[in-house]
Amino acid sequence: MGPAAIPHHIAIVMDGNGRWAMRRYLPRVAGHKKGVDALRACVLHCGERGVRVLTVFAFSSENWNRPQEEVSGLMELLAVALTREVPQLHAEGVRIHFVGNRAALSDKVRAGLQQAEAATASNQRLTFNICFNYGGRWDIAQAAASLAAKGEPVTEASLDRAMALSHVPDPDLLIRTGGEQRISNFLLWQGAYSELYFSDKLWPDFDEAAIDAAIADYAGRERRFGKTSEQVAPGKSKKVA
Ligand code: FPP
Repeated sequence: MGPAAIPHHIAIVMDGNGRWAMRRYLPRVAGHKKGVDALRACVLHCGERGVRVLTVFAFSSENWNRPQEEVSGLMELLAVALTREVPQLHAEGVRIHFVGNRAALSDKVRAGLQQAEAATASNQRLTFNICFNYGGRWDIAQAAASLAAKGEPVTEASLDRAMALSHVPDPDLLIRTGGEQRISNFLLWQGAYSELYFSDKLWPDFDEAAIDAAIADYAGRERRFGKTSEQVAPGKSKKVA
């Protein structure tokens, strides 16, 4: 596969942790723990494949509505993962960014996020965006509000600059695991031209081979960005007699 076949930016809705756990008669949080293992392997594998940006949906603005035990389990998991995982990710040249509304998070979690970002700020191999307490609508609204507060005109370009993911180009490939085929308020703005890939595998089962299969599928897509096939790949489209 040539470099053009490797997506620069992959975004993932990591769905299916709860079902993975329930099938084993385990609490849902056990599925999220297994999800962290899958995520670690995914980050490292994307780095090896030459992907430059990975963005994952770890906790949505709507996830607060889950049972209290699961919400606090996810918060705890994030805090633990931050202390445990950052040294290895740092050694692998991964730059960590948190994307989302931090205001509602505890002081402990917020401090952990800041430390992870500061510790990895100069890394350049792979930018790893963790969307936590994030929603696509929240992002569009906060971007518009920040422009309004500064009295700046709202245009596509100014909104784009004010969005939470303005430090990276839009995702080329958007993957959702767990069998559902919807966006669920993820990257509504940035995913406008992303290639979508849905897998029936539950997130804890989404291994390196599954990532490679998604990348191979992407490599076969023709990205047109609103143009015709003939414009983007002259001579490739077949004439119908
Ligand atoms: C969706 O599965 C997954 C989540 C809501 C959380 C994703 C979190 C992780 C993969 C762990 C990594 C997180 C941190 C804290 C870094 P689901 O629970 O909706 O699964 P279901 O559809 O089977 O119920």
